[in-house]
Amino acid sequence: MGLVEGKVAIVTGAGANIGEACAKMLSANGASVVVADINAEGAERVAGEINAGGGTAMAHAVDLGDEASIAAMVAAVMERFGKIDILHNNAANTGAAQMTRDAALLEMEEEVWDAAFDINTRGTMLMTKHVIPHMIAGGGGSIVNTSSGTSLLGDVLNPAYAASKAAVNALTRNTAAQFGKANIRCNAVLPGLVLSPVARAQMTEEQLNLIQRHVLLPRESVADDIAGVVTWLASDMSGFVTAQIISADGGICHHLPHYADMMDMMAAAQG
Ligand SMILES: NC(=O)c1ccc[n+]([C@@H]2O[C@H](COP(=O)([O-])OP(=O)(O)OC[C@H]3O[C@@H](n4cnc5c(N)ncnc54)[C@H](O)[C@@H]3O)[C@@H](O)[C@H]2O)c1
Repeated sequence: MGLVEGKVAIVTGAGANIGEACAKMLSANGASVVVADINAEGAERVAGEINAGGGTAMAHAVDLGDEASIAAMVAAVMERFGKIDILHNNAANTGAAQMTRDAALLEMEEEVWDAAFDINTRGTMLMTKHVIPHMIAGGGGSIVNTSSGTSLLGDVLNPAYAASKAAVNALTRNTAAQFGKANIRCNAVLPGLVLSPVARAQMTEEQLNLIQRHVLLPRESVADDIAGVVTWLASDMSGFVTAQIISADGGICHHLPHYADMMDMMAAAQG
């Protein structure tokens, strides 16, 4: 038996990278999966691969910036599967055009700030708003919001993204508080740097090495590191875990700021 055998899961942004890995791991663990993405081609590809491998998946094109589009998707899922047990709010506005303009606060364009919040925060809230009535009717469910390590700490890049993800952390705790008595759990998973093609395209090798120095574990993170946590949070194995903000970042956001310099100093002292 898989960890989420017989459950129905919606994964937003599942047409690529981390969301794709999460949809495939949920499917491998027995869930029927709705592969939801604004990128219809990506959603069709991922759902097709799951179905070809013997799983059950349904692709659905959705724009998280548009409440009517979200409502239509939830209606289509109910028509096809009759229930929703798991919602993974994974999608985010992380395209290069958005992230490169989300930099210096003194030059911040309102539309860039709003575009981060529209998808990352409001989209997550709207998905939650439309799915929860069906979870209540079904006796409960598990919601997993993908946040980011950047929601916890200060940085010199991407303030709109970081603030929108900090708001996702707050939304996570509020969702858990409002619907816990209806047997609905809500938790957030915080990746560090996951080297998807999109993330790599946005960074130089020098930047990658600079970040990897601060990861406590000896390897780079992969999408399945996040999918494993999401699948556990979605499953009954984590049945008494709710309102938690859980990092899956190799410890990068959880050590003293001088850690990497100290490691270098100790290595130099040993010759
Ligand atoms: N990759 C990382 O290093 C990293 C680090 C921390 C947090 N995260 C978070 O993990 C999640 C997945 O990241 P990723 O690297 O796989 O990102 P990605 O950009 O590769 O994938 C995001 C997906 O969301 C979809 N999407 C974007 N706007 C949408 C909209 N309006 N409606 C529906 N779908 C939309 C995209 O089409 C894409 O398939 C995001 O929430 C991201 O913020 C990623």
